[in-house]
Amino acid sequence: MTLPEGYTLQARVPDIDDVLRLRVESGLSPRTRAAAEAGLPNSLFGVTLMHDGQAIGMGRIIGDGGCSFVIVDIAVQPAHQKRGLGRAIMDALDAWLKAHAPDGAHISLIADGDARHLYARYGFKDVGPASIGMQYTLRR
Ligand SMILES: CC(C)(COP(=O)(O)OP(=O)(O)OC[C@H]1O[C@@H](n2cnc3c(N)ncnc32)[C@H](O)[C@@H]1OP(=O)(O)O)[C@@H](O)C(=O)NCCC(=O)NCCS
Repeated sequence: MTLPEGYTLQARVPDIDDVLRLRVESGLSPRTRAAAEAGLPNSLFGVTLMHDGQAIGMGRIIGDGGCSFVIVDIAVQPAHQKRGLGRAIMDALDAWLKAHAPDGAHISLIADGDARHLYARYGFKDVGPASIGMQYTLRR
């Protein structure tokens, strides 16, 4: 899709500072700097959406590169939402998966709130009632 004027989509994993900032700005749970420093270099693919020289949106794919892929860190800064930018991010991640993931690959994500409507456009389905999504946050 064509981006609205003034926006550019860069095919690169977002910087650590941008991931930490954008998660909080968009209402997602915070990540520690140590976790981001350890995790981001292991991304399979990422996109960074720029506006006026600043990252205002992002998305990443993590996984083993063959069997299992997980979409994470999908966020658009609130002031820039509802302009099709979430779709632009998902278009880019979807295109990368179509180009790189093998037949039978398992693509998953946890959809927060209304974001499920965005993901449904790309073929994601609720895993219930046969399954439920489960997760926990490690605390030391
Ligand atoms: C989810 C998010 C990335 C969507 O970004 P966005 O730029 O506003 O999304 P878009 O404008 O591209 O909308 C794309 C589609 O998503 C769906 N959608 C997005 N928000 C929706 C909402 N509140 N209600 C219903 N559908 C919605 C619509 O189907 C929309 O399609 P349309 O263009 O035909 O209306 C953004 O709202 C966000 O950052 N939210 C906070 C963080 C978050 O929840 N991230 C997802 C974690 S799983």
